[in-house]
Amino acid sequence: QFTGLRACEILDSRGRPTLSVTVSHGSRSATATVPSGASTGRSEAHERRDADPARYGGAGVLGAVDTVNSELRQLLCARSWTGLADIDAAMIELDGTEDRSRIGANAIVGVSMAVARMLADAGEVPLWSWLHVQGGRPRLPVPHFNVLNGGAHAHTGLDFQEFLIAPLAAATVAEAIRAGAEVYAALRTLLADRGHSVGLGDEGGFAPELTRPEDALQLLLRAIEDAGYPAGLDGIAIALDPAASQFRGPDGTYLVNEHRHSSSDLVQRYVQMVRDFPIWSIEDGMAEDDLAGWRELTAELGDRIQLVGDDNFVTTAARIARGAKLAVANAALIKLNQIGTVTETLEAIEICREHGYGQMISHRSGETTDDFIADLAVGVGCGQLKAGAPARGERVAKYNRLLQIAADAPELPYGIAETAFTVHTG
Ligand code: PGA
Ligand code: ZN
Repeated sequence: QFTGLRACEILDSRGRPTLSVTVSHGSRSATATVPSGASTGRSEAHERRDADPARYGGAGVLGAVDTVNSELRQLLCARSWTGLADIDAAMIELDGTEDRSRIGANAIVGVSMAVARMLADAGEVPLWSWLHVQGGRPRLPVPHFNVLNGGAHAHTGLDFQEFLIAPLAAATVAEAIRAGAEVYAALRTLLADRGHSVGLGDEGGFAPELTRPEDALQLLLRAIEDAGYPAGLDGIAIALDPAASQFRGPDGTYLVNEHRHSSSDLVQRYVQMVRDFPIWSIEDGMAEDDLAGWRELTAELGDRIQLVGDDNFVTTAARIARGAKLAVANAALIKLNQIGTVTETLEAIEICREHGYGQMISHRSGETTDDFIADLAVGVGCGQLKAGAPARGERVAKYNRLLQIAADAPELPYGIAETAFTVHTG
């Protein structure tokens, strides 16, 4: 029986309001804080904001906070529950809308995360060992560091949103994090030497005035070498999240460094990039509603690299299952606030496993110092986590949590889990 639930309005890493939610049970309590995206998929659960132009330009969350402190508190504390799935289902029913817009997905996900923490604490187990899926074995994930930011996260001339480095061949997560930080430092030096800005984007990566994605890849490759690491699957590999929904026009063409591409042109540009650079994974290579483009991309590259669906799948089991039927992608990005509860997030991961789809756990561009997703990645054993650059508090909170888990549980393996796409190293 829970004895208390309260929320308050706090700030996220972009200085926009979000929720902090605390659940209590006698003298025990657990808190979760809620992230927020900028390049969101159209079918994401609805983030409730006040729309009062007099506060935070309309972005306040006092309405969502109020609902936690009244309706959701009443619901949670009224009776005893059999588990988190029970509570999540009751919140969804109480909301009563398809997109969680009445209560607000930001309110619901905060409660769901806080309750998960509380239940792990009550069971006296670390959160990662409490968060698990059918057949999954805990493992430390390969961190994917977003070191160059563009698109909706940087407002430079670079249309691709994320250029990530993935230390696939590191022996331990600590070595992987060290590699990420060293390459990040080398990249900073390289950019400064070439007269570029070393200012940062929303996810802590550098945001130089580049336009061609190939130029960004070239810099990244150079930084990996400067830091003394081999570039490739047997060293540090590169991952991309172009977030293509953001640069597709109403006429269905894609605009990349001011060049207009059909879907097929864009697919061929990716094919060339995969030939020229050690790219192991591409997320949202095509726009969320470009089904034909997604199928073409998957046919061209789906047996060679990982193709991750984010805006199109929005962490929704049914959408991932449909994607598998249509041969779209071979992996899914997993974001708690995209679907809205911890239970449904675990269901989405299970569906991926059933269909042989890989899973990458992800932060949002608007983050807090909450480190829930590090435990989630370890617990479900998916082998992949992206949480931004190896810098800035709200990003390193997740990587630091991985280091703590590794120190506490040295028996945990590190690395990419078995997925539909097999990484051929060497
Ligand atoms: P978002 O970006 O959090 O701004 O949606 C992350 C992503 O597209 O993966
Ligand atoms: Zn994405």
